[in-house]
Amino acid sequence: MQIKKEMKMADAIHRNYLLLPVINRLGIQLGFQDKTIEKVCSEQKVDVEFFLTILNAFLDTNDKLSKQLQVHSVKDVVAYLLKTHSYYLERIIPEIENRINLLIQHSQLSKDEFLLVKNFFEEYKKELYTHISLEEKVVYPYMIEIANAYHKKELSQSLRDKINSSPVTSYEKEHSDIEAKLFDLKNILIKYLPRPNDSYIRNRILVELFTLEQDLNDHSRIENNVLVPQITQMENTLLAQK
Ligand SMILES: [Fe+2]
Ligand SMILES: [Fe+2]
Repeated sequence: MQIKKEMKMADAIHRNYLLLPVINRLGIQLGFQDKTIEKVCSEQKVDVEFFLTILNAFLDTNDKLSKQLQVHSVKDVVAYLLKTHSYYLERIIPEIENRINLLIQHSQLSKDEFLLVKNFFEEYKKELYTHISLEEKVVYPYMIEIANAYHKKELSQSLRDKINSSPVTSYEKEHSDIEAKLFDLKNILIKYLPRPNDSYIRNRILVELFTLEQDLNDHSRIENNVLVPQITQMENTLLAQK
């Protein structure tokens, strides 16, 4: 069942607590009382339709829902994605890193075993940072440039050259490597480290990794299944016009 604007904001969280960071990124903070989604959004000056589309696309991975995002502006979708990048870099990754550092103090891992996890995590982090930086410096500005040109119906020669040399689809493949690395990192913790006396810290790291994975999947789905087809269609329209 989809989330609707008549629903109480608190009930959306009770339905799926993983929506908490999603709601924060959209500009809504806790302390909803019994107010409906519509009321909270209007009080906190958030576009309720955009809010509902993002939440419903997170809860239901059916592509039809994410496609509804295409009625919203590329700029709004990109602004939301930028906030999720900051959330990963400033909150989630440092938190997982802290927990990994606790592994050496509170588990019976040898130095080598600890370093295996630590180095693997470092590699994952590096790859994620590189990916995010490419998107923020190159891909998102390009998408916004295309959307602006599309709305103005004006294509400069330099933008025409860019579309021909690196269309938006040329950035699409990137995500699978990051997903594979995260999957491997989880497996080191689940399968390959020796059995601990107490699994608590390892479990906590795994919960963080699974949560990050779900959030990242939603994020990449918006990039690949919403923005890329939308920008491709704009590129084609722009190239077709005289
Ligand atoms: Fe991204
Ligand atoms: Fe991405």
